Amino acid sequence: MQYRKFGDTDMEVSVVGFGCWQIGGYYWGHVDQGEWIDSVHRALDLGITFFDTADFYGFGRSEQVLAEALGDRSDDVIIATKVGLVSRGGRQDFGADDLPALEDHIEKDLSRTHIIEAAEASLRRLKRDVIDLYLLHWPDQATPVEETMGAMAELVEAGKVREVGCCNFSAAEMHEANRSYHLAAHQFPYSLLDRTAEQELLPACQAAGIGGIAYWTLFKGLLTGKYTQHSAFGVDDWRHFDPAFQGEPFRKSLAIVADLKRVAVDEGLSPAQLAIAWVLHQPGVTTAIVGAKWPQHVETNVGAAEAVLSNDALKRIDEILQESRA
Ligand SMILES: NC(=O)c1ccc[n+]([C@@H]2O[C@H](COP(=O)([O-])OP(=O)(O)OC[C@H]3O[C@@H](n4cnc5c(N)ncnc54)[C@H](OP(=O)(O)O)[C@@H]3O)[C@@H](O)[C@H]2O)c1
Repeated sequence: MQYRKFGDTDMEVSVVGFGCWQIGGYYWGHVDQGEWIDSVHRALDLGITFFDTADFYGFGRSEQVLAEALGDRSDDVIIATKVGLVSRGGRQDFGADDLPALEDHIEKDLSRTHIIEAAEASLRRLKRDVIDLYLLHWPDQATPVEETMGAMAELVEAGKVREVGCCNFSAAEMHEANRSYHLAAHQFPYSLLDRTAEQELLPACQAAGIGGIAYWTLFKGLLTGKYTQHSAFGVDDWRHFDPAFQGEPFRKSLAIVADLKRVAVDEGLSPAQLAIAWVLHQPGVTTAIVGAKWPQHVETNVGAAEAVLSNDALKRIDEILQESRA
């Protein structure tokens, strides 16, 4: 495993992190809790020290099960959790197969009152006295940024949060927040199938001393090469509704993945390892968080941490991606 620090902070994490959304109970189909806990244990044994969760993942379930899985090893790792997504009217009685209704109820709340209450609830579920990295989940246009960052600063002052970060902010929103309180990290989607972050976010993070956390490194599993045009997802799996997994966009991505597979073979890597390693080769990325449901998947993903891609592989990857845009 390799380790890097977030931006200009002293907080060091493994370059491959563990995404804990899957155990929330929504969005990812059936997830076996025992296998997921075994996956966390395998991750710890293989040197993963960064776990990413959110209060919204299963309305707290992800935080709770993560705490159970980590047990007395919780203090050996860095946990990031998030605040700011709520369900309208506090409704939480969605069936796992009722994702459209759940999506329809999502609202943003980065008010001081909500942040202070949510932090206490996350600390209880995580069985921790301090949240290592507290992330603003999505920008909330209805709350002044000074109020939001003031609340985060209060939590740091009170010793309940060590570092503050954001997710899914534009570069301008990130700079505005960073002016009120220094951000340690910014989390955004970044992968071989979505390089948008290269345009503004990655350079902005580097310039401001903010660590980049890449999510959807495997593009929700697509870059593992395990899906075909005939793959189908249940209605309890968000990919059933995700336009990226339907029709022409899906076919186009599968063709890119088929080309990338050949590069992976020549580098002695699996497609998943190539995808993660490529993200880790890009300037501005501190860590790539990957969601996994099985210990074997964690083992594969960790293999990307030490991979050094050849110049030939990096050139071929660029060519494949450029051709796909032509
Ligand atoms: N801040 C935000 O707004 C935000 C948004 C999204 C995600 N995140 C965070 O980022 C984390 C990672 O993103 P993600 O989990 O959404 O997507 P991801 O990491 O791109 O893909 C996860 C999926 O990839 C498949 N997979 C993983 N390792 C594999 C392997 N070695 N072999 C085969 N398949 C493998 C699994 O698919 P199957 O389910 O088909 O087995 C898994 O569910 C999340 O868990 C969450 O913590 C944050």
